[in-house]
Amino acid sequence: MKKVAVIGYPVKHSLSPLIHNYWINKYGIDAEYGYMEVRPENLENTLRNLGINGYSGCNLTVPHKVEAAKIVDKISDVALVIGAVNTIAIHDGFLYGDNTDAVGFFDNIINYVSENNLKDSFNIDKAVIIGAGGAAKAVAASLAASKTNKEIVIVNRTKSKAQEIREHLAFAVFEGERHNSDIKIAGWDELDNVLEGANLLVNTTILGMVGQETLDINLDKLPKEALVNDIVYKPLETDLLRQAKKRGNKVVDGLGMLLYQAVGGFELWFGIKPEVTKELRQLVEKASLES
Ligand code: ATR
Repeated sequence: MKKVAVIGYPVKHSLSPLIHNYWINKYGIDAEYGYMEVRPENLENTLRNLGINGYSGCNLTVPHKVEAAKIVDKISDVALVIGAVNTIAIHDGFLYGDNTDAVGFFDNIINYVSENNLKDSFNIDKAVIIGAGGAAKAVAASLAASKTNKEIVIVNRTKSKAQEIREHLAFAVFEGERHNSDIKIAGWDELDNVLEGANLLVNTTILGMVGQETLDINLDKLPKEALVNDIVYKPLETDLLRQAKKRGNKVVDGLGMLLYQAVGGFELWFGIKPEVTKELRQLVEKASLES
């Protein structure tokens, strides 16, 4: 039997076991996906011994993603750019680290666009990313790696952190090629104004999450055709999405990113690209409300 686990500290909140065990059952794979609570000081040792302990790989959650990127033997382009690893596969005893958050973000958007027949009318010429933490890095890297966009604006309360992402991404290489996105930064006071001409707006901050302050934003300058995505999925409909929907924008909630980021790991460990079904989404939505 193959074994995989999500490693975190704490870890019980993770929805990854639910997602992966759903697919393990669906595809009839002889495997189990569990939880592993590991303190930061024990992370390296745990990862080094994963293979010996019969694991095919693991997922990493808070607070291990950045540290894991320093431990793995080989790292994907996108994980290197983001500076964080959320998925590890073991090949011949070596730890291969990847970051599937970037692909998860992008595939969630692409799925929405194709399901709603927007393919011909939706192009990302200008994307505005709110926030400059780990999630913002993944979103910015995925947009740059997709090579479809022209302008990416990162708006953050602490502008220097947006600047760091910009500098870091300026030299990023994806599959041997430099990207050609024009990455700009803006301060918190410029948030409402940078929305002009944007096709995609993504909130990557914790603002709007249950128990946090709401995101104070005026969407007047955002074109009505723009797609608005919140990576917060608790609640599913954040204040930002409600506001955007009310004025006619199409909105994409954050649960899809969580589901789509899991696809890459499952494929790495088990060799099957699993399907994000409506049934799985309902299951995870229910569990997320209960947790
Ligand atoms: P993650 O890795 O999940 O993205 P993070 O690194 O803690 O989380 O980043 C959180 C983001 O939310 C940051 O962009 C943070 O802004 P700062 O860089 O200025 O800290 C943003 N954020 C958190 N609380 C905020 C608040 N009250 N107002 C504005 N931005 C906030």
